[in-house]
Amino acid sequence: MESKLFTPYKLGPITLRNRIIRSAAFENMCTGNMPSEQLFNYHVSVARGGVGMTTIAYCAVDLSGVSFDGQLYVRPEALSGLKHLTDAIHAEGAKASIQLGHCGNMTHWSTCHCMPVSASSGLNLYSPTIHRALKKKEIKELVKKFGEAVDFCREAGFDCVEIHAGHAYLISQFIAKRTNRRCDEYGGSFENRVRFLNEVLDEVMLHAKDDMAVVVKTNMWDDCWRGVSMEEGIKVAKEIAKHKVHGIILSGGTVSASPMTILGGAMPIKTLAHYMPMRTLWWLKAALGIPGVGKMMIPTEPFRELYFMEQAKRFQQEIKDTTLIYVGGVQSGDNCQQIMDEGFELFQIAHVLIKDPDFVKHVQENPHYHAGCKRSNYCVGRMYTLDMKCHECVLRDGEQIPDNIQKEIEQLEKNAAASIEKQKR
Ligand SMILES: Cc1cc2nc3c(=O)[nH]c(=O)nc-3n(C[C@H](O)[C@H](O)[C@H](O)COP(=O)(O)O)c2cc1C
Repeated sequence: MESKLFTPYKLGPITLRNRIIRSAAFENMCTGNMPSEQLFNYHVSVARGGVGMTTIAYCAVDLSGVSFDGQLYVRPEALSGLKHLTDAIHAEGAKASIQLGHCGNMTHWSTCHCMPVSASSGLNLYSPTIHRALKKKEIKELVKKFGEAVDFCREAGFDCVEIHAGHAYLISQFIAKRTNRRCDEYGGSFENRVRFLNEVLDEVMLHAKDDMAVVVKTNMWDDCWRGVSMEEGIKVAKEIAKHKVHGIILSGGTVSASPMTILGGAMPIKTLAHYMPMRTLWWLKAALGIPGVGKMMIPTEPFRELYFMEQAKRFQQEIKDTTLIYVGGVQSGDNCQQIMDEGFELFQIAHVLIKDPDFVKHVQENPHYHAGCKRSNYCVGRMYTLDMKCHECVLRDGEQIPDNIQKEIEQLEKNAAASIEKQKR
């Protein structure tokens, strides 16, 4: 039987040329919060490499939701740069999507230029930051901003918007009991905790009309204390499905407490600390330098190919009327085929397309192609301070990588290989 992998797929009002989407993976390539030539070159290369759709990551609907200086947010000044980018993506035959969200308490005053906000007030040790609870009026204003962001994205030439409702950013800060201690209609019961999500999706669908595709990235489970469980994750996905969105991306984990659940493998602690600026993050740099502290703060999640498959299949049994989009641990053409065989229509890839934007083309030529991404997560450690780049691309571009970082990469690659081997046994 011929594979559906390279057949078109109708995602709501748009048609993708195949089943592969470049996942939202924060590029940190937008200095001054503006689209850059580097962002343009990367996404155009991915589009040229054959994906059905590429996703520009982590665009905030408002400045208060920005957590990096190199991050986009919805602002008129960014419009022409984004239009230039989507035109070029279209010229390569791919569709263009953009992830819209709000980081909530995962930011600092210095970046978002206000006191960080969340569902409830408190101290976020991971940023670290003191944050305050959103007032009801402000919640309504933010809901409106999600809708306005969809209009902005249409004008910028995007075909699809991806609403980020997972990973412990603002929408999931409302959903999880861990971060929502409100006593009004936005807190307490499940119905109340998903109210913000539901209001955002009502507004987004209203503005998407019948010409923009809408997908939502949700957490199957949060993998942390008082976070969303699998049972609750299924209930959340069912709420999302009620809005008749065109796709639901099934992820898991939180950026604060369990980031490696999202990403798979280990955080390259030395890489992370090496690139951090001494001026502002000296205390974190110093803490990460103490043996064992980094690993304790960011626990490893032994890497497995297609690491979310088991959980995603459980969601497949529960949610029948919405396209479920798989993400997590795609490394090869065989992995792509397995996702199709498991009955998913679409899937997303991040790591492999950071190493090799031509991955899709290679799979088209050789269905058993393996990308050779050895999962050191150097791209992640670097992304927090510099930009999202694979160490192989860094070396190819003539930039040096210090010996101790190179050694860490090699060690983490060995660990991931051992973990993959163990999985096969
Ligand atoms: C460098 C990097 C940055 C990421 N940034 C984001 C992000 O901004 N938003 C998001 O939803 N997921 C983000 N992710 C997670 C990916 O979208 C994806 O869910 C995860 O990496 C699993 O897919 P993969 O195994 O194909 O990499 C990021 C991943 C990487 C590697």
